Amino acid sequence: MNDLPVKEASKGKFISFEGGEGGGKSTQLKLLAKTLKEAEIDAIETREPGGSPGAELIRKLLVEGETDRWDAQTETLLHFAARRDHLNKVILPALDNGQWVLTDRYADSTMAYQGYGHGVSKKAIHGFYQFIAGNKQPDLTIIFDMPPEEGLARADSRSNEKTADVHQKEDRYERMGLEFHSRLRDGFLDIARKNKKRCVVIDATKSIEEIQTNIKKLVFKRFRLDGDE
Ligand code: TMP
Repeated sequence: MNDLPVKEASKGKFISFEGGEGGGKSTQLKLLAKTLKEAEIDAIETREPGGSPGAELIRKLLVEGETDRWDAQTETLLHFAARRDHLNKVILPALDNGQWVLTDRYADSTMAYQGYGHGVSKKAIHGFYQFIAGNKQPDLTIIFDMPPEEGLARADSRSNEKTADVHQKEDRYERMGLEFHSRLRDGFLDIARKNKKRCVVIDATKSIEEIQTNIKKLVFKRFRLDGDE
């Protein structure tokens, strides 16, 4: 079997939303999906880890339980296994079909969390990415930046609202400590510096409305859509 059976499907646009915890990217993804719908663009909303039935099963292994449940290498491989399934079953078919794909996290999260955060070899992460995705990259990556103290506090109150049951909380990464979260914030900013064409950093401390307006302007300009902006 060919190692790289990933087609360069790109009829639709592929946009990833990235950043640390509690930055508001999921809210903004939904708002952008609504804006695109109003512009009569067919877009799907998805997420990582997860997004396909198989990858959602792997997600549970990654986001619940003890922080030391996996070593960093095993954790990296689980993220890539989930991503491969998500790409093959959901992302590439949708793009091929002309739909836009908005994903709440993608491969930059592995580089930031497992690479910069846990210290896994960045070269190895690049290699695994090529193995599962070839040269396919998002057309645009929006990175939500905010001080980790603020993001973690927001994420904590949100996860308490969702469930009080400690066994069902998806907060394994939130419990990894401030130093880890500071490293991955620096990691995302470094990824943005190294991928200037693809990545745009958003100040996530601004209001929901201001961020929404900025993202709409960015997307309409980047993909030459008609709009009143
Ligand atoms: P979220 O759905 O709340 O963003 O949770 C997913 C968690 O998984 C989040 O804490 C970041 C983490 N993650 C990684 O560590 N590596 C990855 O490659 C991805 C996609 C997510």
